[in-house]
Amino acid sequence: MTSLQPALPDHIKKLSDDDVHRLIAESRTKLGSQCVILGHHYQRDEVIRHADHTGDSLKLARIARDLPGTPNIIFCGVHFMAETADILTSPQQQVSLPDLEAGCEMADMAETWDVDAAWHEALAAGAGKIVPVTYINSKASLKAFVGDHGGTICTSGNAREVIDWALVRGEHLFFFPDQHLGRNICKAMGFNPDTDMLLWDPKKPLGGHTPEKIRNTRIWLWQGHCPVHALFTLHQIKKLRVEKPAVKIIVHPECSMEVADAADLSGSTEQIIKAIEASPSGTIWAVGTEKHLVERLAQNNPDKEILSLNPYTCLCGTMNRITARHLAWVLDDLVQGRPLRNQITVDEKTSLSSRVALDRMFNLH
Ligand code: 13P
Ligand code: SF4
Repeated sequence: MTSLQPALPDHIKKLSDDDVHRLIAESRTKLGSQCVILGHHYQRDEVIRHADHTGDSLKLARIARDLPGTPNIIFCGVHFMAETADILTSPQQQVSLPDLEAGCEMADMAETWDVDAAWHEALAAGAGKIVPVTYINSKASLKAFVGDHGGTICTSGNAREVIDWALVRGEHLFFFPDQHLGRNICKAMGFNPDTDMLLWDPKKPLGGHTPEKIRNTRIWLWQGHCPVHALFTLHQIKKLRVEKPAVKIIVHPECSMEVADAADLSGSTEQIIKAIEASPSGTIWAVGTEKHLVERLAQNNPDKEILSLNPYTCLCGTMNRITARHLAWVLDDLVQGRPLRNQITVDEKTSLSSRVALDRMFNLH
């Protein structure tokens, strides 16, 4: 298989780890306000230590939108986050993803042409007004589709307000691509997963349902999920509650409904960090989210016991692709006067429609 990502050059490969960090620091000093490094909480420590801003996807999207014209934005995260940053910044600003293969498996589960086909099938089945909402973990083309069809975008940090907004505007909510986030939030809002929601399987005609069922069901959840958060189970929670009765369990809402229901709390990566930091010394936490964040929480909160809910821990392999060496390479290139490497560019038409959907989200806050 051909790789999207060019191999790191020998002069970067040969550096010792210390020299990599030195090169990053020196390049940063030389570049000054010419670049900014954004880092998602799931990034490796070796990358996060160089980030100007860290955050969940909502916080990083806001930071990208509000940057004061910084020309080079190096996004240490995954592809949809870099696309979102490109949409939210001016044409004079460029966004780099230090490893082009850092995608998101969940985002790849909702192809825009499948969504478009499903939309038309649902209308042909006699559905009433549909309001589409996509989780920010989606391709720019899907964000544009949603923008063009009167819908908006949510993150794990604001999904409840966004879904509320959508439900007062239409007879049906069509939620992409994460079934679990959609189900968990709608259930917390009082909807019944068995009678008020259906799972739309894109491989089946009408998502696998009858026209009558489509017409009579308020919430349609696209059949997508995060393979990392699928690794947390109810069995792990039950076992841990026996072994450590004082444990508090906090999970990301991309976990399944049975896991989210059995946990004490659920929230975005930023909300998980805040809850743990605010807890009293000695609290025991089991966290249902990605390994790098859980390990960093344990390091930064030595007065608390923090472990992964999954004893084997869960790693997002695509987030993990970006290393300090990739960062050193992108920065060094800029210092040498070369164009920003690994640029992520969303075409103008897609960008304009996606921006409409993103602005609807930002206007809710
Ligand atoms: P957050 O919005 O909580 O950062 O989550 C993004 C993500 O990809 C989680 O898997
Ligand atoms: Fe995508 Fe899951 Fe990785 Fe988040 S953890 S970037 S949803 S694959």
